[in-house]
Amino acid sequence: MAESETMVDFFHAIPKIELHAHINGSISTGTMKKLLDRKEKKILEHCKTTFEEAERGTLDDCFKIFSVIHQISDSTEAAYTITTDVIREFAEDNVKYLELRSTPRDIAKTGMTKQSYIEAVLKAIEDCKSQDLDIVVKFILAIDRRNGVEVAKETLDLAEKYRNISSDTVVGLDLSGDPYAGDARDYIPVFRDAKRRGLKLALHLAEVPNKEETMALLKVLPDRIGHGTCLHQEAGGSLELVEFVAKHRIPLELCLTSNVKGRTVSDFDNHQFKLWYDLGHPCIICTDDKGVFSTSLSQEYSIAANTFGLSNEAVLDMACNSIEHIFAEDNLKATLRDSFQEQRHLLLKTSD
Ligand code: IMP
Ligand code: ZN
Repeated sequence: MAESETMVDFFHAIPKIELHAHINGSISTGTMKKLLDRKEKKILEHCKTTFEEAERGTLDDCFKIFSVIHQISDSTEAAYTITTDVIREFAEDNVKYLELRSTPRDIAKTGMTKQSYIEAVLKAIEDCKSQDLDIVVKFILAIDRRNGVEVAKETLDLAEKYRNISSDTVVGLDLSGDPYAGDARDYIPVFRDAKRRGLKLALHLAEVPNKEETMALLKVLPDRIGHGTCLHQEAGGSLELVEFVAKHRIPLELCLTSNVKGRTVSDFDNHQFKLWYDLGHPCIICTDDKGVFSTSLSQEYSIAANTFGLSNEAVLDMACNSIEHIFAEDNLKATLRDSFQEQRHLLLKTSD
């Protein structure tokens, strides 16, 4: 077997943790075809829902794609199908623990409400437990920064309600959406309230330069940061931001292909991964939107290893260390640690 094929197998074989995956950004081409076939009018057939292999766009192009996807994913049936398929695909990629995130939506024409949307996602997660899939799945409710504080408060109430009903499958809140829209500082009281209610926070921060907004949100002490692309000075951030994140050891969810294809980072070599990894800071490799950006978690690990010259041991350690930052109970962390360690020994033995 050629060396490159062995390496692809290696990255696939690593047991992995995925902590930053938007449900509607993670739709595979197979699922998209299934959803389009179900639509009465195939008007959306020729609309773009993904970036091809080497294609790049801008953040604006990404958000145009999401508005097309949301027209296809507009019912509880679609939400159930998408979630089921996304979980199966991550399990096939050897992801052992997955946190999905998604923005609850009301769609009058199909009768979907925020509640029925959440219930469809939770049903898909529950039904996957009875299939032979070796994966644990949690759910984070997303606040879209375009939708305003009242909607955010409603999302917080829903997160608390469904956390209680779902026995901790719902674990927290995300802040996402177009980083140029609105002022994320408006949501700070909602995030503080979420923490008081025992919910975790995974916030998209500094996707684009905005020092004041970023510092104000960091002071809430989120449990994890999505991207953090522009925290450092060279990217429009500051030493103060880097020092704050480093001092509090707030883990970073890093999505290489997403940032390069969405052009918030010029190329893989210049990705902020290097800066944070070299600092010994908690870095979690994630996909963001595996459907939109045509990637997989194995591929993201392979890109990180090849771009930054990481050894097999270092890559395995990175996967294992991600366990410390999942939004789940300690006994699940311990179980995952044991099983990852066992796999680590086997993989290092076979890759010698
Ligand atoms: P959904 O929440 O499952 O419908 O997934 C799509 C949504 O995720 C988009 O409409 C955005 O709000 C959010 N999203 C996906 N990728 C990004 C990103 O890179 N930055 C900010 N928001 C994102
Ligand atoms: Zn994201």
